[in-house]
Amino acid sequence: MRIGSVSITHPITLAPMEEHTNYPFRIVCKQLGASLVCGERVDGSDVAKRDRRALKLLHTTSTEKPVVGQISGHDPHVMAEAARVVAHQGFSIVDLNFECPIRRLIGRGEGGALMANPPVIAKLVAAVVAAVDIPVTLKIRSGPDSEHETAPETARLAELAGASAVDVHARSVAQSYVGGPDWTVVARVKQSVKIPVFGSGGVREATDAIRFLKETGADGVAIGRGCLGNPWIFQQARALYQGGAVVAAPHPYERARVLLQLAEGEFDFYGNHLALKRLPRVACYFAKFLPDFASFRNEVQKVNSFQEFKRLIRQHFVQ
Ligand SMILES: Cc1cc2nc3c(=O)[nH]c(=O)nc-3n(C[C@H](O)[C@H](O)[C@H](O)COP(=O)(O)O)c2cc1C
Repeated sequence: MRIGSVSITHPITLAPMEEHTNYPFRIVCKQLGASLVCGERVDGSDVAKRDRRALKLLHTTSTEKPVVGQISGHDPHVMAEAARVVAHQGFSIVDLNFECPIRRLIGRGEGGALMANPPVIAKLVAAVVAAVDIPVTLKIRSGPDSEHETAPETARLAELAGASAVDVHARSVAQSYVGGPDWTVVARVKQSVKIPVFGSGGVREATDAIRFLKETGADGVAIGRGCLGNPWIFQQARALYQGGAVVAAPHPYERARVLLQLAEGEFDFYGNHLALKRLPRVACYFAKFLPDFASFRNEVQKVNSFQEFKRLIRQHFVQ
């Protein structure tokens, strides 16, 4: 499948998630079979100013290509400049976020706030398309709330403005992350445009990903919370999609190996202080299956170095 000039080999992809889809996690998802990975949303105005923290979030290397960098904002000039930075950082695709439900963004008329105004979204898409040579995509919701389904119109206008693909989170902005997704909106978007349509919402198991593709007719599925602590979902869903044998749940050794790779990546990426702060949350996603999870959760809070973490993993995962 092609997204503008970018080819991807199968439709199982990683959805962007703030605080989660950093560079080390994306590498893990890629190695375990995601065809396309996406970095978390970064404020376009910070990116345009080349703010140090924003550029850190937009770190990428050729190892993870093809890779998507995502920005949000409401000013066409600022978004165009931010998109140039994303392209310059080495991302294969720039994605515009019109889905984020957090109050700070909504208050500024950005992210999900724009689902109430599809023509403004189209203008932003056009400005960014004119600014960069890489494909431009957009991430939307079903609409601002359950009464107003603006996704199909938004996708149509964005396609006319030059978007190369659209990704629909099958919940409204008002819903935030609560309540079940309505996959039928993805099917309606698919019927409205010719560009590839991706979707996300409620995929927890590999079989959900396949069901999502079948029921919606979407070209791709983006896996969100279902891959936290379980990046093997990409391998499993890819195998099901390609008609191969069912891939079994990973052995505890494999879980330990991947968790250690991710943790080491985070220590390299963030440095000791921040990596240690993040460690309990990251590790607990992977450790939930342990019979002695409660004691693991307790002990991981006290870890002071990567070496100590390795010892803890050996104790709990490798017996
Ligand atoms: C913690 C968290 C952070 C998220 N951050 C982003 C983000 O930065 N950009 C974005 O487009 N979507 C973001 N999303 C939405 C996901 O990409 C995805 O659409 C959604 O989680 C799909 O639903 P699911 O988790 O039920 O599968 C986030 C979701 C979660 C749970």
